[in-house]
Amino acid sequence: MQKQKILIIGGGGREHAVGWKVAQSPRAGELFFAPGNAGTATLGTNVPISATDIPALINFAKKENIDLTLALPDDPLSLGIVDQFNAEGLRIWGPTKAAAQLESSKAYAKDFMKRHNLPTAKFETFTDFEKAKEYVANGSLPVVIKASGLALGKGVVICETLNQANEALENMLVKKVFGESGATVVIEEFLLGPEISIHAFCDGENYKIFPSAQDHKRVGVGDTGPNTGGMGTVAPVPFASTELMKKIEESIVAPTLRAMVADGIPFQGVLFPGLMLTKDGPKILEFNARFGDPETQSFMRLLDTDLIEIIEATLDHKLNEIEIKWKPLFACNIVLASLGYPGNYEKGKVITGLEKFPPLDKGEVPEAEGVVLFHAGTKAENGELLTNGGRVLGVSATGNTLPEALEKAYKAIESINFDGMQYRKDIGKNAMKMLE
Ligand code: AMP
Ligand code: GLY
Repeated sequence: MQKQKILIIGGGGREHAVGWKVAQSPRAGELFFAPGNAGTATLGTNVPISATDIPALINFAKKENIDLTLALPDDPLSLGIVDQFNAEGLRIWGPTKAAAQLESSKAYAKDFMKRHNLPTAKFETFTDFEKAKEYVANGSLPVVIKASGLALGKGVVICETLNQANEALENMLVKKVFGESGATVVIEEFLLGPEISIHAFCDGENYKIFPSAQDHKRVGVGDTGPNTGGMGTVAPVPFASTELMKKIEESIVAPTLRAMVADGIPFQGVLFPGLMLTKDGPKILEFNARFGDPETQSFMRLLDTDLIEIIEATLDHKLNEIEIKWKPLFACNIVLASLGYPGNYEKGKVITGLEKFPPLDKGEVPEAEGVVLFHAGTKAENGELLTNGGRVLGVSATGNTLPEALEKAYKAIESINFDGMQYRKDIGKNAMKMLE
């Protein structure tokens, strides 16, 4: 089997987890990460190129004769990294710029859902502050205000009062706190119900759905405080029955892919709709055009098929010809974050207590009680491991039951420390409660 030189774009926990899985493939040769983190450095070579510096990434891929590039974060996808690599004859995996608009423009995504009759919250789109204010004043509360563009998961405000709504609109449309991302806002009906993350590998026409997952987006215990990129995940979600997953495939995943084909923009890569399970059925809160972070850290613990084989099948439009296996286990991933995240935080704090977690070189699983540590915002310097981001580490574990996986992960966290370390102590609690 021909070994491939692979470039993974990104530097978070998701990239470490995907890199770890890729490294286990007999098809994987040398691995490169741009820019990577201290964890990915144990799997391959970190290249100091930003995930959004597409010309530099193209130069690097040519110079190193990279066989396959995996574009994982939202920013390079929305900038059209896939189109630009393809134009240079370079093999890359991910959705095109047009397809990635499902995530990069909420206004586009909402219009797409309306045109194709996909289940989602009612909405209107605005660029004018006064008109937006008037619409909210005439509507009901709570109301949800969203920056249309990418905002690191922070551009969504749930407003209980008119004052809050006006402030959110002013921040986005007048003060431009999210820059161009907030220059268009989507004002949406408030939905109620548990949320789940759905992922599917897609080759344009065919798809293979993953087990369900649940993220915890708010920073604080009990779903309090501001939204983050995600503070922890469980997979599969114990209450997501086979019937529910079938309904989600039939009412959301399959029609979305068909609609993309009908629009002339077939979707290739990972489609990740975030859903709310309302009393009127599952509704789409948002589309993501990529693997979730930290959902992926849980998924990679469960995936039991060669990830490169899956990626090649999607590139070759042959996803229907392979079988994708998932371990019949539960997985969780708990994020350890910096004090202040998702707001301002300091970097450079020394991380201690990782002796139990040997580096994941060559992709092996150090089955230290089934716990695997994924790095996110970390950096190695002078023999020390330092914090280098808001989300610093992900502690993942598997078990025959979800409580077993969670217990292992929380126990492993006890030994880890850095100044200001914060994490949610209730990951998976709601999902378990729904079973009662
Ligand atoms: P999004 O980035 O659109 O997924 O929104 C981030 C979070 O805001 C979601 O995970 C939900 O918790 C919440 N949210 C978004 N839209 C709505 C809505 N229409 N009703 C209630 N909550 C929402
Ligand atoms: N965990 C949610 C996301 O990746 O957007």
